[in-house]
Amino acid sequence: MIIPLAHRADQTQEYYFSVKLAEVRRLQAAGHDVINIGIGNPDLMPSENTIDALIASARQPGSHGYQSYKGTPALRQAITRFYAHTYGVTLDADTEVLPLIGSKEGITHISLTFLNEGDGVLVPELGYPAYRAVSQMVGAKVSEYPLQEHNGWQPDWEAMADLVAGSPTSTKIIWLNYPHMPTGAPATHALFERAVRFAHEHKVLLCHDNPYSLILNKKSPVSLLSVDGAKDVAVELNSLSKSHNMAGWRIGWMAGAKAYVDAVLTIKSNVDSGQFKPLMDAAAEALDNSDDWHRERNAVYQGRLDAVHALLDALGCTYTTDQEGLFIWAKLPDTVESAETLVDDLLYNKHVFIAPGFIFGPKGNRYIRVSLCLPEERIRTAIQRILG
Ligand SMILES: Cc1ncc(COP(=O)(O)O)c(C=O)c1O
Repeated sequence: MIIPLAHRADQTQEYYFSVKLAEVRRLQAAGHDVINIGIGNPDLMPSENTIDALIASARQPGSHGYQSYKGTPALRQAITRFYAHTYGVTLDADTEVLPLIGSKEGITHISLTFLNEGDGVLVPELGYPAYRAVSQMVGAKVSEYPLQEHNGWQPDWEAMADLVAGSPTSTKIIWLNYPHMPTGAPATHALFERAVRFAHEHKVLLCHDNPYSLILNKKSPVSLLSVDGAKDVAVELNSLSKSHNMAGWRIGWMAGAKAYVDAVLTIKSNVDSGQFKPLMDAAAEALDNSDDWHRERNAVYQGRLDAVHALLDALGCTYTTDQEGLFIWAKLPDTVESAETLVDDLLYNKHVFIAPGFIFGPKGNRYIRVSLCLPEERIRTAIQRILG
């Protein structure tokens, strides 16, 4: 290429799954039946009402034009009903909710809105790779706060205070995500209270990413915004991708105080031109799915979870049973050299794809992450291949 790339493109690596799934597709094209148990892409259907609403809305002549940058009032109201019902959090539908094209894009919009070049950002290690990648793209200075197994994968707030105090530049944002991906560590009100207190003390914006609160949760789902004083220092991303089996629809949102929402909207309205109205109408319907619908989805995942535990036993891995979310995080036996060797061995010799833990940070090198997004019989087939 004769045109040099921008530094940010030079320094950003292609997303691991984007590279590895191309390899999975190559194997499939060569006729191999690859069992992909690596990626969190729900295979279950959205609710019937959701699909019906999509079709009905698509038949309306008024559905096909540009929509408001803030999404439809019906979607924003459905999000506020969902927050009240699910988390006991009151939001103003006009001012405290911003629909997004999936929560992933919210990470970019929030970063563009709040970070100057050189500002400090704290990201979890282990954690979702986009927090780091996007912070770097906008020129922020990224520090990692370690999450450790012996600590239940919870932040060590004293170490966090040292990171903030020791940083040569002021820390603007802390990314937080509980139930935690990839370790499955649950969300608790106590953790969120501590986080909000920390954000007040250190004057940082807490960005909580909350896509897994309804998946295999052992207690009532929690929003960080349920903590007193949270709206002053925190925003929350949420999404229909996992909880409503709608990953491909790209429907998420940011919730928080008006000043934060308005600031992010200023940036976002210069980037995209809103979402397709039938998607938003159907998303509003999905947000009203009954508690029974969520229970039935979790019952399916519970069956798969038992099969995944058997698969991990077959690999000699160890894991905890208190994990929440769409994945199981497991430690490799000492006999295995690294996650990379195991993942490549399984992919090329057994045609089973599992995610290596190092995608989420170097501490993950002795772990793997297995997804629940596959019918139970496919997981059982993977076990037979592993044992065979
Ligand atoms: C922790 C975490 N945050 C955000 C996302 C992005 O979700 P969305 O589909 O809403 O963009 C994912 C998706 O895998 C995730 O695991």
